[in-house]
Amino acid sequence: MDRYAVFGNPIGQSKSPFIHSQFAVQCAQQMQYDAILAPVDGFADCWHNFVASGGKGANVTMPFKEQAYQLAETLSARAQLAGAVNTLYIDSTGKVCGDNTDGVGLVADLIRLGVNLAGCEVLLLGAGGASRGVIGPLLEAGVSQIVLANRSIDKAQAIAANFDRRVLACGLTDIPQQAYLLIINATSSGLTGGRPDISAQHLKHCQLAYDMVYGAQPTTFMSWAKQQGVARQADGLGMLLSQAAAAFTIWRGVTPDIATVMTALRLQLTE
Ligand code: ATR
Repeated sequence: MDRYAVFGNPIGQSKSPFIHSQFAVQCAQQMQYDAILAPVDGFADCWHNFVASGGKGANVTMPFKEQAYQLAETLSARAQLAGAVNTLYIDSTGKVCGDNTDGVGLVADLIRLGVNLAGCEVLLLGAGGASRGVIGPLLEAGVSQIVLANRSIDKAQAIAANFDRRVLACGLTDIPQQAYLLIINATSSGLTGGRPDISAQHLKHCQLAYDMVYGAQPTTFMSWAKQQGVARQADGLGMLLSQAAAAFTIWRGVTPDIATVMTALRLQLTE
């Protein structure tokens, strides 16, 4: 049976085994999907052992996305732009290929939520790997500008340097006043119950406040946006499912439907 896995450290909390086993049933695919805890300094060895035992592909999560980027023999354009790999697979010639489905996952989720990305001015908060991975696909989806705001401006500037003038770097306190219809929180602040400290004036035109973090309850950023009168808020569960669906399609050539799996996951989160 074809083997797949998610590599991470820690990995116990990963939803990927559940998601991919549901996708496999739905798409009638004979495959096994495991969670593999790789030592922080042993990702490459772990991956090679996995391939030697029949592994065909993997998802890669924290903290190995940059190491997977180094390990891949060929990279998709979007993985190159992201500087990180979240999906590995072996192609028909035996080469290790690296791709990144995080950005297309976000775009698919925004489309699912009814956002019209064409010509949209986006405020993107945070300048870590999560942020960098989604900029290329957002531009490709037609957004007119991405203002990339980060607590430490140098990190935002370093990312913006990889893109054209549509991506503008700034600090959290000098965000230009623009009509941001979409604000995306790509900081990790929600993991510890916080939110990026930005002025509420930037939310005035916002139609959707999107947090890449997800959980049983709305994140602090989502609740704050709601209080400020933003009509809609969403967490990153849909992005998680959509990036997984894109990886599954790369591996198996069939595209699963995320709706039923999302309902099941939402239920699990609240249990
Ligand atoms: P990831 O790969 O998930 O993006 P990361 O590379 O550690 O994780 O990046 C975390 C991001 O969240 C950074 O942009 C960080 O800001 P700094 O670069 O200034 O550290 C941001 N972040 C984390 N906690 C934050 C908070 N409380 N307020 C604002 N930004 C925060």
